[in-house]
Amino acid sequence: MKLIVGNWKLNPSTLNEAVALTSGVNYAIKAEDFERTVLLPPFIFLEELVKKFKQIAWGAQDVFWEARGAYTGEVSLAMLKDVGIGWVLVGHSERRRIFGESDEDVNKKIKAALAQDFNVIAAVGELQRGDEADEIIDSFKKSAAGLETADLARLTVAYEPVWAISTTPGAQADSPARSNQIIGELKHAAFKMFGEPSKKIKFLYGGSVTSENALKFLSQPYIDGALVGGASLSAEEFAAIVSVSR
Ligand code: PGA
Repeated sequence: MKLIVGNWKLNPSTLNEAVALTSGVNYAIKAEDFERTVLLPPFIFLEELVKKFKQIAWGAQDVFWEARGAYTGEVSLAMLKDVGIGWVLVGHSERRRIFGESDEDVNKKIKAALAQDFNVIAAVGELQRGDEADEIIDSFKKSAAGLETADLARLTVAYEPVWAISTTPGAQADSPARSNQIIGELKHAAFKMFGEPSKKIKFLYGGSVTSENALKFLSQPYIDGALVGGASLSAEEFAAIVSVSR
């Protein structure tokens, strides 16, 4: 069963548009596919969307690790839980690159969210095409250091090469074979860190996934699903990605 995660990023601008997009997805996705589909809208829309569309698994695009205090602009896990959110994405390359998050920050976020029983999607990926796989593995190891093996069934790792993200100038999707190979290496690194329980971690590919190329990625042996950015902003396109991956 492949997991498909739609990350809306800083879109759309109004709650009405967010509701319209969700209605489209809700209509186009088969009922049995809801359990393997996660949507990540901006924080501000979450409460209303959860109320209106209870059958969808909703998640936040980020979270802070502290529970409360003097952290202007941040959102806590307890706040997310209070509005019924069960999933959270951390360490997206845009958070790392634009907002300066380090592997250590991402590690704190993963640990805090797993400890609070969230399903966590942690992203890793290299900046330039041709960067060494070692760097990706190193970032993964630092981001996942010290996690409890009992929590790994709630961890998903998204491999997203930054150069393949649709909004990066000149972006092109990675080749399915290469992303499969990198994910295979990540799985191997996870096994070395955590042993047998690491097999419960899901690994997604993210970077210019569309309804046209989704099947090529999702039929690779090591790829357990997709993290979809741009294409998740069209209900038809997103639903088509979910349906090809059945
Ligand atoms: P994209 O985004 O699907 O628009 O390339 C993917 C990502 O940010 O991981």
